[in-house]
Formats: sequence, structure tokens, C-alpha cells
Amino acid sequence: MKFFIDTADINEIKKANELGILDGVTTNPSLISKVKRPYLDVLKEIAKEVPGPVSAEVIALDCDGIVNEAKELAKIGGNIVIKVPLVADGLKAVKILTSMDIKTNVTLCFNSLQALMAAKAGATYISPFVGRLDDIASEGMEVVEEILTIYNNYDYDTEVIVASVRNPLHIKYAAMMGAHIATIPFSVFNSIIKHPLTDNGIAKFLEDYKKIPK
Ligand code: E4P
Repeated sequence: MKFFIDTADINEIKKANELGILDGVTTNPSLISKVKRPYLDVLKEIAKEVPGPVSAEVIALDCDGIVNEAKELAKIGGNIVIKVPLVADGLKAVKILTSMDIKTNVTLCFNSLQALMAAKAGATYISPFVGRLDDIASEGMEVVEEILTIYNNYDYDTEVIVASVRNPLHIKYAAMMGAHIATIPFSVFNSIIKHPLTDNGIAKFLEDYKKIPK
């Protein structure tokens, strides 16, 4: 399973990268707005820091606009993946970008039929937003399970990025279902390493070690 970090904060990205288990980064306009620096500058810095795929979202909503913006974003580096919203023009653009060998991450996916359409358009990645579904009392992870079944039935190569992750259980269920990737906020990234019994155990071992005669 691959782990992406869902942030545009370079310090968070560096800390996660230092662990040696970071496979990529996803950003979006909301995350980049928090950094308070120009959009392209932020993306360039991230793409240099992490060799794996870095998702950069387009703002345009029409097919030509998306393709033109994608071509500019792709110039940032070979690891840039174009994040395209799941609308009709977005799917048309994905088809064109795929034919140009530009990788795409179809974003804002909220059901498995949308995901099927993205795979048919040739998307490299699909991003179901599980947390936002949970927020409105829908089962986000059920959508992931459906997408994996459908993609498996037809051998689609599109990889599933479990997005809008809010807690460690989203990652656990994603892994159990065999989702290819989870894109994880920094706070959740840290919380899946820690366990109070690990900390207590270390403290006790160190305390007992001192009792061993030299
Ligand atoms: C994914 O690519 C998105 O950037 C992200 O996961 C959205 O998460 P949110 O619902 O917490 O904003």
C-alpha cells in the first residue's frame, strides 16, 4: 500500500518524508491557500522535495481550459499528476491528457459510478472522498469497496486513492480492502505510528534496564 501525504505545508512534507515511507503528495487549492504563497511556487517546492507523484489541481472547469492548465502544471516536473474534478469536461480532458502521457488524479469522487467513468476515461488515479461522505452520514468506505470491486471486475489500471481521510480507521479499512493508496493529513500520519502501550512499554524497559547490575 502506498502512503501519500495530503498537505501543501513543506515542513509537514519534509517530516513525513524523513520517515522514509512517503510515496507521494496530494494538494488542492484549499490546502495551498493555507500556505499563503503563490500556487506555482508551492507546487515547485513540493515536486522538488518528493520524487513520487505530486497532485496539482487545475482551476479551469472547461475541457480546453483544463488541458491548457494541465500542460503548464506538467512543466513543473515529471512527477506532477494533474488533479481534475469529476465533471463531464474533466473526463473529456482526462482522455486527452492520458493520450499525451500526462498522469491524472480524478478528484471529488463520491460514488462508484463516477469512479467507473473516470477509469473509462483513462484516469491514472481516482480519489473517493471518504471523510466528506461520512460527514453527511454516508459510508465513505463502502464507496471504496464498490470501486475496488468494479475496477477488479474489469481489470482497470486506475489506482484508488482513499482521500479526505479523517482518522486511522479510514487507513486500516483502506488497507484491509486493498486500496492502492491512502492520502493522509499530517496529524493522522503521526497518529498511526503512536500507541500509548508502546510508550509505556519503552519507559518500563528503560527503567528495568537501570536495575541490571553492571
Ligand atoms: C484529496 O486529494 C483531497 O486533497 C483531500 O483528501 C480532501 O480532504 P478534506 O475533505 O479533508 O478537505
